[in-house]
Amino acid sequence: MLGGKSYILRGSVSLALVILILFMITLLVSEDNPLHTSLFDVKRQFTASSSSSSVCNFAKGRWVKDRNRPLYSGFECKQWLSTMWSCRVMGRPDFSFEGYRWQPQGCNTPNFDRFTFFNRMQNKTIAFIGDSLGRQQFQSLMCMATGGEESPEVQNVGWEYGLVKPKGAIRPDGWAYRFPTTNTTILYYWSASLSDLVPMNNTDPPHLTAMHLDRPPAFMRNYLHRFDVLVLNTGHHWNRGKIEGNHWVMHVNGTQVEGEFLKDIKDAKDFTIRSVAKWLDAQLPLHPRLKAFFRTISPRHFRNGDWNTGGNCNNTVPLSRGSEITGDDYGSVDTAVESSVNGTRIKILDVTALSELRDEAHISGSKLKPRKPKKVSNVTSTTPIVNDCLHWCLPGIPDTWNELFIAQI
Ligand SMILES: *[C@@H]1O[C@H](CO)[C@@H](O)[C@H](O)[C@H]1NC(C)=O
Ligand SMILES: *[C@@H]1O[C@H](CO)[C@@H](O)[C@H](O)[C@H]1NC(C)=O
Ligand SMILES: *[C@@H]1O[C@H](CO)[C@@H](O)[C@H](O)[C@H]1NC(C)=O
Ligand SMILES: *[C@@H]1O[C@H](CO)[C@@H](O)[C@H](O)[C@H]1NC(C)=O
Ligand SMILES: *[C@@H]1O[C@H](CO)[C@@H](O)[C@H](O)[C@H]1NC(C)=O
Ligand SMILES: *[C@@H]1O[C@H](CO)[C@@H](O)[C@H](O)[C@H]1NC(C)=O
Ligand SMILES: *[C@@H]1O[C@H](CO)[C@@H](O)[C@H](O)[C@H]1NC(C)=O
Repeated sequence: MLGGKSYILRGSVSLALVILILFMITLLVSEDNPLHTSLFDVKRQFTASSSSSSVCNFAKGRWVKDRNRPLYSGFECKQWLSTMWSCRVMGRPDFSFEGYRWQPQGCNTPNFDRFTFFNRMQNKTIAFIGDSLGRQQFQSLMCMATGGEESPEVQNVGWEYGLVKPKGAIRPDGWAYRFPTTNTTILYYWSASLSDLVPMNNTDPPHLTAMHLDRPPAFMRNYLHRFDVLVLNTGHHWNRGKIEGNHWVMHVNGTQVEGEFLKDIKDAKDFTIRSVAKWLDAQLPLHPRLKAFFRTISPRHFRNGDWNTGGNCNNTVPLSRGSEITGDDYGSVDTAVESSVNGTRIKILDVTALSELRDEAHISGSKLKPRKPKKVSNVTSTTPIVNDCLHWCLPGIPDTWNELFIAQI
């Protein structure tokens, strides 16, 4: 009898111990626990809203470790990811950069969930117009939306937007894909400068192109009425080398820019950003369902020069530049975009400062693996290393940009 009783007693003591240990484990990991995070957010949000000036600012906050990242596999999203941006495929050795999400300060942002996303995006079209960083954001959203799974049901509807590969071209000017279940379309159009490019029809090479700084790209003017969400970006093509290399000739008011006007390329860039924002803002009342975002510049991290002069970004330790952006009184690092959308209905998608903290997440450091092994393949330690501190590994930082604008739609 007594032995039985003590047996039961010992049993309940061990059960209590097990429960206690489980409880402690829960406490220990709760930094990543969604329940804990959302309670924490509510508290923060309450504190924030009770102080007079605070509205949710997605650009301020901190990077936090998240066991549920990345949102898709870099090995599996082959249908949408360019090989050169898929650092898993390219044989980069370290992947700790994949395990973080951005926690905005004072905002209760839901985790990205693709089923919720499609539910909200029924019959809607999301358009990205911009440079290769815009293309990265587009590919990232395609991977997030499919979870990186092979998706044969997705339809290529590029032809509906004139996005077909011209004869002799390497690729079309953009891509458009439709998810038939919810009739959701995601598209990207390549416009590095957000200005209208028109051939000048001079007979002698090089064939010059008029770059109309005060006119948005024809694609944007033609298809704006079909977009529900538009995300614009520009920035890295605004240097003399790129503009001269492309034989772009700046025009304003339909005539070639002469003399000192916009001689500084930065002024020309700022002028164009202001022009496109002004044009778009004037269009918004005519397109009441359209939500427009202007993404700020994506930072580069070349140390000691740039890619021509041997600069690199060889850090692999996440957040060695810090994990937090604070300071409620400071605006964006990208004052050109910030001041252009100020007072308009266009929302700023301010990713500059939060991306600045992530110098370890560029494609630099990947090995240039041969796509198909040759008969004699010499992949050795001397296989060249990618030195690109501008573009990002995917999955990676552009996933966060997408989460932030989706939270604001
Ligand atoms: C898909 O959505 C568009 C509006 O974005 C609408 O015009 C079209 O009728 C829809 N198609 C189907 C099959 O629901
Ligand atoms: C989507 O479009 C179809 C066809 O026009 C319509 O029947 C359906 O109600 C729409 N769904 C939403 C959520 O607007
Ligand atoms: C050049 O030719 C194209 C196609 O014929 C035309 O659309 C364009 O306006 C011309 N450009 C100029 C500057 O005349
Ligand atoms: C373009 O036209 C506007 C209005 O007519 C004028 O104010 C501006 O100075 C012109 N800009 C250039 C570069 O010619
Ligand atoms: C990283 O780059 C810096 C600056 O170019 C260089 O001095 C350093 O030796 C590099 N470190 C490694 C481990 O390659
Ligand atoms: C935005 O516009 C307002 C009113 O014109 C001005 O007071 C403010 O300084 C501007 N802010 C920025 C960041 O340009
Ligand atoms: C591989 O290395 C060997 C010896 O270093 C060399 O002779 C050969 O040309 C290399 N092959 C290729 C494809 O680079």
